[in-house]
Amino acid sequence: MQVLGQNFDMITPETEMKFDAVEPQPGQFDFSGADKLVTFARANHMAVRGHVLVWHQAIPAWFANGSYDRDESIQVLHDLIDAEVGHFRGQVLAWDVVNEALFDDGSYRKSIWLDRIGPDYVTMAFQWAHQDDPSALLFYNDYGIEALNTKSNAAYALLKGLKQEGVPIDGVGFQMHIRADAPPVQASVQANMERFAALGLAVHITEMDVSTAYLRGTPDQQMSQQGQVYQQMAGACLAVKACGALVVWGVSDRHTWLRSFLDPNERPLLFDDDYQAKPAYAYLLAALQYMP
Ligand code: G3I
Repeated sequence: MQVLGQNFDMITPETEMKFDAVEPQPGQFDFSGADKLVTFARANHMAVRGHVLVWHQAIPAWFANGSYDRDESIQVLHDLIDAEVGHFRGQVLAWDVVNEALFDDGSYRKSIWLDRIGPDYVTMAFQWAHQDDPSALLFYNDYGIEALNTKSNAAYALLKGLKQEGVPIDGVGFQMHIRADAPPVQASVQANMERFAALGLAVHITEMDVSTAYLRGTPDQQMSQQGQVYQQMAGACLAVKACGALVVWGVSDRHTWLRSFLDPNERPLLFDDDYQAKPAYAYLLAALQYMP
């Protein structure tokens, strides 16, 4: 909490605002975990990025295993968004409204929402969220859309269409779960940010971590290679006026999701297992031209 409060001015709950966390039983909402984070944020003058309203993961068993037709599924989603966005009205700067709706080839990801409602769930979610908190910025969030590529082309087309239809969408989140050994090219990330900005959208880097699993070389070399990647991606964001946030997906390497997901020796974040700042921290400050 000390490292968090001293170094960051924005916070995103990693799991506490997800569907399975906030509605463990149908119609029974529990915001106690998320409330603690929002209270901490307020006490430490931090903005909150709400994460996430509509996602194919973190679905509670009652909805995953229950039989809900299209109308009933629409009602479930509408109730979830009303309850959650309403509960946090005025306290969340930006919501990840729809998360990871696309496959890498650009097609709609198969999900419980697509199956039960159809692609319209995207539009519905943004409209309800806007009604529930007109002052919150509403984002589409995804991974693998950082650089110019097939998937970011599809995200661009999707968001351009939504804007043209007048759907209340304010921004795009680049998750930025990337690899230190094969990072996106900075110029490509920058150009990609610029095209979303030209649609009138804000850009946030929403879940950055830089995987060390495939790096070679000494530990020192690995940490400085990782640091350079942090510096490059921050450089892209700083060069684009519409890029307004850089959020990392955790504080200490000790608690990264990548240790269970990919490699028990992962060190993808800015602080080591003992909460000491890593070289990546200094590289990031260099990009920010921060003078202590
Ligand atoms: O809290 C319970 C604990 O009580 C229980 O003993 C334990 C047993 O498995 O599980 C704990 O919950 C886990 C939770 O993380 C907290 O650690 C869940 O099983 C686990 O599924 C959950 O994983 C999270 C995952 O999203 C699913 O919600 C990861 O921490 C989180 O980093 C990951 O985040 C996603 C973003 O939301 C979207 N983008 C990709 C990113 C990485 O997958």
